[in-house]
Amino acid sequence: METQVIKGLAEEGRRPTTLFLGMMGAKGGSGVSMFAATLASVISRERKLLMLDLDSNSSHRCSFEKNGFPGISNLIMLIGENGADALQHLIREHPMGFHLLPGFRVPEEEGLLTSEKLNVIYEHLSRHYDLILIDVSSNHHMMVNGALNPCELILLITRPDLLSLHCALRNQELVERVKGIGSQRWGLVINGFSRATLIRPHQITDALQIPLVAILPEDPQAAENFSNLGKRPSDNSPFLEAITGMASRLGLIDQPAQATSRRFYSGLKRALWG
Ligand SMILES: Nc1ncnc2c1ncn2[C@@H]1O[C@H](COP(=O)(O)OP(=O)(O)OP(=O)(O)O)[C@@H](O)[C@H]1O
Ligand SMILES: [Mg+2]
Repeated sequence: METQVIKGLAEEGRRPTTLFLGMMGAKGGSGVSMFAATLASVISRERKLLMLDLDSNSSHRCSFEKNGFPGISNLIMLIGENGADALQHLIREHPMGFHLLPGFRVPEEEGLLTSEKLNVIYEHLSRHYDLILIDVSSNHHMMVNGALNPCELILLITRPDLLSLHCALRNQELVERVKGIGSQRWGLVINGFSRATLIRPHQITDALQIPLVAILPEDPQAAENFSNLGKRPSDNSPFLEAITGMASRLGLIDQPAQATSRRFYSGLKRALWG
């Protein structure tokens, strides 16, 4: 979905600044990939979005029945050979309705991605997309590799328990150490909240000093869909509803047609930090 402004710039061979959104977890199984895929499917209806899978499990690759196709580690070679056309060979349409650049097929491919190579890839991708969503999940190698460096906003997804909180603090510190990112670049998502949860949301935000962006409910039906070859949650899913509300509050959807990425990022900053 291209706005007039973006179309005009594309004709001149350049795009307005692309917004990079990072997604990382407190620890394994925090729900980052399910959250990221659902958010991507919601935003993709309105914006040109790409999901980049840097999850060590390549979760999003697993949403395809035949999933041995090349991924991000192969892109770096193809960019050299084919220039801009390289992307066409690698980007997939995810079953949940967004563009996906698949991750690593085997752990060895992960080792090929140095931060310099990632920068080349980011620069290349930003010529084609308004919004790039990077899922690192609980992949520590990618957290310390500068994979989240271009992100204007990093969403930290945590379960509401003490162990997750402890791990969230450690991962936040890890990423901040790489780039010295200020606290205004973080948003917190509490996933899997229910009546039985003992720890309160404000206790988590107080400890992490990160603005709370969303509280997502436990939703076994959405989880079953996600695990079943990446199906979108049903329209009445409370998980989907919470994410759609969040995307709207942050100005990631429902923006005036003429808005550029930079303008909706200003809206996002206002919504988060006043
Ligand atoms: N709100 C929720 N309600 C119910 N189940 C959930 C919820 N969020 C995530 N899950 C389930 O928890 C499991 C882990 O989720 P997911 O793979 O998204 O986590 P992750 O943080 O990406 O994990 P990893 O760090 O291993 O990549 C999945 O089976 C998922 O369907
Ligand atoms: Mg994951």
